Parts: sequence; C-alpha cells; structure tokens
Amino acid sequence: MNKILVSIVFTVILVLGINKVTDIIFYNPAPQTSAYQVNVTTVASNETQTSSESSQTGDIMALFASTSATEGAKVFKKCAACHSIAEDGANKIGPALWGVLGRPTGSVASYKYSKAMAAYGKNWSFEEMNGFLTKPKDWIKGTKMSFAGLKSAKERAAVILYMNKNTNSPLPLQ
Ligand code: HEC
Repeated sequence: MNKILVSIVFTVILVLGINKVTDIIFYNPAPQTSAYQVNVTTVASNETQTSSESSQTGDIMALFASTSATEGAKVFKKCAACHSIAEDGANKIGPALWGVLGRPTGSVASYKYSKAMAAYGKNWSFEEMNGFLTKPKDWIKGTKMSFAGLKSAKERAAVILYMNKNTNSPLPLQ
C-alpha cells in the first residue's frame, strides 16, 4: 500500500518536473504579428500578382507591333524538336501545332496529353499562350512539356504571331 502511494507521488512529481523542463527548453515568445495581419499581406500580394499578370498580358498585345512572324519563325526553332507547325504536320514529342491558337487546350485527338493538360479546359487565347510559354510548368501544373519557357516577352510575342500565321483561322490582332 505504501509502495503504491510513494510511486504515485513520485510519478506526479516526475510529470510536473518534465513540464517545467520542457517549458524551459521550448520557451516560445509570443509571435509579434497576429495571424490576421499575415492573412492581410497574403491577400495583398495576391492582388499585386493578378494586376501584374494582367499588365503582362496587356504587354503581349502591345509587343505584337514591335516584332513579326518572321522573327517568330526563328524562335520556333526552339520548339521544332518537339512540335510540327505545318498543316497536316504529325505529332512529335508534343502535339501538332497547326492552328493551335483559338482551339481548345489539349484537343488533338491523336495525341496523348498529360492529365493536367487534358483537364485544363480553356482556349488558347493570346493571353493563355503568353502565360503558358513564359513558364509552362508554372502555368499548367503537371504538364509534360519539358521546356523551361521563353523569358523574353518579345520572343513570346514573336512566336505567338508565327503560330497565328500557321492556321486556317488566325485570331484577330486587335
Ligand atoms: C522538349 C519538348 C518540347 C519543347 C522544346 C516544346 N514543347 Fe510544347 N509541348 C511538349 C509536350 C510534351 C506537350 C504536351 C503537354 C502535356 O500534355 O501536358 C506540349 C504542348 C504544347 C502546347 C499545347 C498544345 C495543345 O494542343 O493544347 C503548346 C501550345 C506548345 N506545346 C507550344 C510550344 C512552343 C511554342 C514551344 C517553343 C517555344 C514548345 N512548345 C516547346 C513538348 C515540347
């Protein structure tokens, strides 16, 4: 009976002791900014992102004037290893790109797209194409297009103009 009592008291002391020790080890000063403020900054940075995105797409329309489909043909050499652009061109590593602008994303029936591209469900507008070509893996998470992207907006504008020539139904430039 005594032994049981002693061991209970001992355990209590032990537990209390451990609590104190962990308090000391993991002493954690109160956070200086509240969670609410953190949320506010996230929202704010999202907003700047959207606005910089739209100004970027605004740029692409403006940049069409400063370049040409002929320049785009040169840029397309970076794509040609994986893509044909000619009418009735075959799929290569990537799908055939004749008439790609304006058509639904992931819509070449004979090509096996990644799940991400197959499910993306948009149209290849100038803005979509500009965003995708900037950094494909960021624009469509899970795409299997292993291409780092075209950093230069002018190169993107040029290659988009070139693709807009290789089609039966070019998108209007205004
Ligand atoms: C290393 C090979 C490779 C290179 C280089 C490459 N692509 Fe791709 N591309 C692919 C693959 C693979 C896909 C299919 C992506 C998927 O299914 O997720 C694709 C998909 C696309 C699509 C979507 C087509 C559709 O039918 O929806 C476009 C547009 C595209 N590429 C344009 C380009 C352009 C423009 C360039 C050059 C600036 C380029 N690609 C460079 C491999 C490549």
